Amino acid sequence: MNPEIHYLPIYSFQQRLTHWLIAAGFGFEWLSAWLIDHSDVDPLAWTDWHLMVGQALLLVLAWRLLLYFVAGSGHWRFFIPTREQRHILRDTLRFYASLGKTPLPDWYAFNPVWQPVYLLMTALAVVTAVSGFFHSGLPFMGGLSSADLHSAASLVLLWLALAHIAFAVWHDAKGRGAQISGMLNGHKYFHIDQPEGQPPRSERSVSIDSLIGRK
Ligand code: HEM
Repeated sequence: MNPEIHYLPIYSFQQRLTHWLIAAGFGFEWLSAWLIDHSDVDPLAWTDWHLMVGQALLLVLAWRLLLYFVAGSGHWRFFIPTREQRHILRDTLRFYASLGKTPLPDWYAFNPVWQPVYLLMTALAVVTAVSGFFHSGLPFMGGLSSADLHSAASLVLLWLALAHIAFAVWHDAKGRGAQISGMLNGHKYFHIDQPEGQPPRSERSVSIDSLIGRK
C-alpha cells in the first residue's frame, strides 16, 4: 500500500486556546489544592490564587460551552458517535485490546471511543468550577454539601484527565494523525491507502467525507 497523505485544518484557534487554558487552569487548581492541604505553604495566599484561577476558569468554560453551538470541529455534534464512525470505534478498541500491535485508525476531530468521555469531562469541569464558587456556603441535595461535590467532581476529573493524557500520548506515538500537534497547530494528517502502482488520486477525488468515514 502506498498512502496518500492529507494535511487538513481541524481545530479552530478558539478551540485550541480554550483546551490549553482549561488544561493549564485545572493543572494549577489541583496543584494548589494539594499544596494547601499537604504542605506548609501560606494557606491564605494559595487559597486566594485557587479562587482567582477558579473564577477565571468559569469564564473559559463558558467560552468553551459557547463553541459547542458555533460551526466547526468544537460543535457538540462532533462529540456524538455516528454509525459511519463504527469502523473507527472498532479499530480503536482492537488497537487497545492488542496493546498497540494493530494499527490505530485516523479520525476527524475526536476519537469516537473518547467522545462521550470528553463530554463527561467538560460537564465535570463545569460542576467542579460552579460548586467551587459556592464552596463555603449553600447546602446541597441529599446531605451532600457543595464542598463535597467540589472534591468528588474534581477528583473524578483528575483521574479522567490523567487517563486522557496517557491515551493522547499513546495515540500520538503509535498513530499517524499527530493529534497532539493538532491541538497545538490545528492541523491533522489523514492517510488514504491505495494499491501499489496506482497513480495518486487527484485532489478533487478525495472528499473530507471519505477521510472521516462518512458515506
Ligand atoms: C487538565 C487537563 C486536560 C483536560 C481537562 C483536557 C480535556 C480535553 C477535552 C474536553 C477534549 C475534547 C476537545 C474539547 O472539548 O476542546 C480534549 C481533547 C484533546 N486533548 Fe485534552 N485535556 C487535558 C490535557 C491534555 C494534555 C496535557 C494533552 C497532550 C498531551 C491533551 C491532548 C488532547 C488531544 C490530542 C485532544 C484531541 C483528542 C482526539 O483527537 O480524540 N489534553 N481534551
